[in-house]
Amino acid sequence: MRMYDIIAKKRDGQALTSEEITFFIEGYTNGDIPDYQASALCMAIFFQDMNDEERANMTMEMVKSGDTIDLSAIEGIKVDKHSTGGVGDTTTLILGPLVASLDVPVAKMSGRGLGHTGGTIDKLEAVPGFHVEIDKSEFIELVNKNKVSVIGQTGNLTPADKKLYGLRDVTATVNSIPLIASSIMSKKIAAGADAIVLDVKTGAGAFMKSLEDSKALAEAMVAIGNHVGRNTMAVISDMSQPLGRAIGNALEVNEAIETLKGNGPDDLTELCLTLGSQMVVLAGKAATLDEAREKLQENMENGKALEKFATFLKSQGGDERVVKDPSVMKEASYKIELEAKEAGFVEEIVADELGTAAMMLGAGRATKESEIDLAVGLYLNKKVGDYVEAGESLLTIHANQEDVEDVKQKLYENITISKNKVEAPTLIHDMVTEK
Ligand code: URA
Ligand code: CA
Repeated sequence: MRMYDIIAKKRDGQALTSEEITFFIEGYTNGDIPDYQASALCMAIFFQDMNDEERANMTMEMVKSGDTIDLSAIEGIKVDKHSTGGVGDTTTLILGPLVASLDVPVAKMSGRGLGHTGGTIDKLEAVPGFHVEIDKSEFIELVNKNKVSVIGQTGNLTPADKKLYGLRDVTATVNSIPLIASSIMSKKIAAGADAIVLDVKTGAGAFMKSLEDSKALAEAMVAIGNHVGRNTMAVISDMSQPLGRAIGNALEVNEAIETLKGNGPDDLTELCLTLGSQMVVLAGKAATLDEAREKLQENMENGKALEKFATFLKSQGGDERVVKDPSVMKEASYKIELEAKEAGFVEEIVADELGTAAMMLGAGRATKESEIDLAVGLYLNKKVGDYVEAGESLLTIHANQEDVEDVKQKLYENITISKNKVEAPTLIHDMVTEK
């Protein structure tokens, strides 16, 4: 087999066989196939696409390129939730304990944040003492005992994807549905998921800006998952404005606690119930989405979801008093209001730019090496569609520096106020299940 022929075949719009895909992924991972040939193939895929069979083969080859996590020692169906990344996306913090309170096992491998999106581990570390440095046997024990645990990245998962993603990044081939879908799905499958719930974001703060592209990506991932024997569902949710009200690590932990008590922001609560219902159904703990939602709401109201969060934090060294008293977390020294310059309806809050503003305060990492400040961030007092008086606070800046003029300027540039009435954006744009 020659790489040249594989490139030419895809260039001419033909489907690759599973042997050809194996040849490419194995050869590229071990260094036999050079970057220039791999990039030519990625560009051919970008223009000629891949069919369902090719996408599934590509995914499973990337899974095989490295270690896989064996979660078979955990009882029950392991459902993983994956978000394509957003600003102020507190859902993982909430969904873990929430679905675990219905005995759905949550064995989550998570990462740190980079750029304008936060990482779940960073957020959890805002709780004093909490850590994810546990070994695999302890991780499995904790999931069996409490139904929920979070561990940091371990093992050499999907090295083919790592190498290929780096190449795509510099050859203008990231934005290809078959390549993105196989990249994301390979990581979830290698991490041991039996079933997968995808939250595909759409809008300014999302990877996919248009609804059409987001839907195509969701459909591609659902098709791959089901093709390779992992029950997969997707939700397409709005990321034109930040999700919920809090952006920043400790602030989001606090927001998660409020949501687990049933007092969270409407959009965040609704998204958690939508994704959570899918997780509960896939885990076989409810027959219908409606039944699952009712059970989840019940556990928010009766305190079981919050209790589960406390148990989870404590079992990994965290100070569980936080669920009753958030002040055990570090607070920022300055709380500065961003006052509306005029009265009107909030028309736009550009999600990714607000993520960048939070990063400027120190809440996120500009580079992998940056230190982050867990206490700082933004709290939105108004969301799109709300009315604001001139001089009223649009949001509160939680800072550890007195001078925040540059952050304020960035925020004013990215929050628009209109004289005309504005509708709140649709939160759940679509749901995708197996065809
Ligand atoms: N995120 C991924 O993990 N892979 C892609 O290809 C794009 C976004
Ligand atoms: Ca939030």
